[in-house]
Amino acid sequence: MSAIKYLRLGVNIDHVATIRNARGGDHPEPVRAALMAAKAGADGITAHLREDRRHIRDNDLTVLMDELSIPLNLEMAATDEMLDIALRHRPHAACIVPENREERTTEGGLDAAGQHNRLTDFVGQLRNANIRVSLFIEPDPRQVEAAIHLGAPVVEFHTGHYAHVAGADREAELRRISEAAALAAKNGIEPHAGHGLTFDNVQPIAAIPQLAELNIGHFLIGEAIFGGLGNSIREMRALMDETR
Ligand code: PXP
Repeated sequence: MSAIKYLRLGVNIDHVATIRNARGGDHPEPVRAALMAAKAGADGITAHLREDRRHIRDNDLTVLMDELSIPLNLEMAATDEMLDIALRHRPHAACIVPENREERTTEGGLDAAGQHNRLTDFVGQLRNANIRVSLFIEPDPRQVEAAIHLGAPVVEFHTGHYAHVAGADREAELRRISEAAALAAKNGIEPHAGHGLTFDNVQPIAAIPQLAELNIGHFLIGEAIFGGLGNSIREMRALMDETR
């Protein structure tokens, strides 16, 4: 498959909600950050409605669906409750992630291969509602094969491991992501990537030619403390564009 020239940036606004929730009020509003992100060059907004509602809440989803003019990618666990919510709101895309109540963030990819039977109906119902389904998986050929069998149009590769190792280990992880992206693209699946990406580590990932979208959150929101959210998104956009 030929290289995708334009790499989309999905901005994850969960941690704007984390800051808001720390005080229990309305400020800062995630939707305000989402609109600012769109203005600064984000191609989509990503939000994870967790079972414990620790950041994004149900009402945020309603407001985002009403006010956004760019696509919303809803990250969600494969539960009946989340399926009902997704079918009610019908976001542009739904990214199915594993969820563990004790974790600080999404620590690993979904075991699409091990949960094949359970996910078949889940993916089917989302697809029938015209929601673009993505599976958040490790860059592992077994998981890509499972995504092919499940009929998922998109996979998102977990870059957390890549982000947390250095030297030869990082090179090896980059190769794994690159090979998995090529395998997905060859089989008609659009590969995305995300988790733990920063100004320092985004470019080798952005240079993988098959990748169509990166989803980035925690770093952008943290960096916004120092540079302003608009500035951090413009810089991320420029770093990504430099590689194409
Ligand atoms: N993609 C997925 C599927 C995620 O679960 C997350 C974290 O919520 C991200 C991307 C963004 O990761 P980070 O906040 O580390 O940039």
